[in-house]
Amino acid sequence: MLTLEYMDKTGHLTEERIASAIKEYAPVLERVKAGEGLDPDATGWLDIDKWAGEETLARLEEIAADVRRKSDAFVVIGVGGSNNAARSVVEALKTKDGTEIIWAGNTLSPAAMNRMLAQLDGKDFCIDCIAKNFETLEPGASFRVLRQLLVSQYGKEEARKRIIATGTIGSSLEKLCHDHGFTFIPFPTDIGGRYTAMSNVGLLPMAVAGLDIRALVKGAKEMRKELYETSAEENTALRYAAIRNLLYGDGYALEMLSSFEPQLKWFYKWWIQLFAESEGKDGKGLFPVASEYSEELHSVGQFVQDGRPLMFETFLDVTEQQESLILRPDDVTDYFDYLNGKDFHEVNKAAFLATRTAHADKLPCLTLSVPRIDMETFGELFYFYQFMCVISGCILGINPFNQPGVEAYKGWMFRALGKE
Ligand code: PA5
Repeated sequence: MLTLEYMDKTGHLTEERIASAIKEYAPVLERVKAGEGLDPDATGWLDIDKWAGEETLARLEEIAADVRRKSDAFVVIGVGGSNNAARSVVEALKTKDGTEIIWAGNTLSPAAMNRMLAQLDGKDFCIDCIAKNFETLEPGASFRVLRQLLVSQYGKEEARKRIIATGTIGSSLEKLCHDHGFTFIPFPTDIGGRYTAMSNVGLLPMAVAGLDIRALVKGAKEMRKELYETSAEENTALRYAAIRNLLYGDGYALEMLSSFEPQLKWFYKWWIQLFAESEGKDGKGLFPVASEYSEELHSVGQFVQDGRPLMFETFLDVTEQQESLILRPDDVTDYFDYLNGKDFHEVNKAAFLATRTAHADKLPCLTLSVPRIDMETFGELFYFYQFMCVISGCILGINPFNQPGVEAYKGWMFRALGKE
């Protein structure tokens, strides 16, 4: 269950303005729920069962069990929407018992490639190349390198059994899999990369890491139910979208997502991609940035509090205490005795509340609260933010599903490298 709170000691947005915007945008909520006026080739995720139903989950669990049986490590080859969701969950929740996940296909740097390969030294491993159209350079080039490594380590026949690809049906990646006997699983035809958390794309790496993908899907379904069944006035996604568009209209240029849980570091990347690629077009959009507190209170915190007023801030707060570490008294006088007996949880909470109080003096602050960091919450967050992003994009008057800017740079890169 997510809750949203708006705090604005500057008096910038009144509750009346927010209520009137919610009323104005209520029809957008209904259109998004029905997928009306949205690209049908991009909204497959609205219905979670379509790409994360029982059959899919059972198949993924079977593949994951096989990979886990024969591997110490699993290399996920993918970039942007093809790895960010899985990475945010795996990096936040992985345990020592899970198969190690190694991320590849997201760089062209030989130094980074060599470091990734060095992580595989002496390990048994399988790979999954995730690519919607299999033209993207980073995953394509890494896939080749890793296939070659598998063949040199195991020989052709065993290597074949260790290669999985997640690609669009009818794509060159599917053909390659059929020609060479690799396991092929479908990339949803009607979902773009950054909206694929609840599909084969996001779920297989999580399952291999030993995480409960059913709990993630359950969280997403609960969130869907809530967003579909609550009225416009009570709808958290519509309220959030309305507030961010009002602030955008008033000249704010950035939304900064901040949290005091460094475990969410990779979730930030997912969130930044979702909003940057979905809204940043036609000369419009809020620039999404993120801040990892409390560390960055000692760097960007200065700008947030006192610099050019470009941004509003959204705190992602985790309300329940999941872990504990008590500061015990010490016989060395270190001048921190006021912390004696306190739990880091309490200290971290105090830092959050103090920061929000200070920041809200200068800029509009939202707080999105989640009960804990677990699979269900990630499911809720993915569905919530995807849904909210589409509402927000529609209010902004852009297509939240394409990425013409990305396509433009790719064209120049392919020309430079002599691709026909
Ligand atoms: O959201 C998107 O569509 C993009 O970020 C893609 O996921 C990213 O560019 C990778 O594309 P592909 O899976 O085709 O390699």
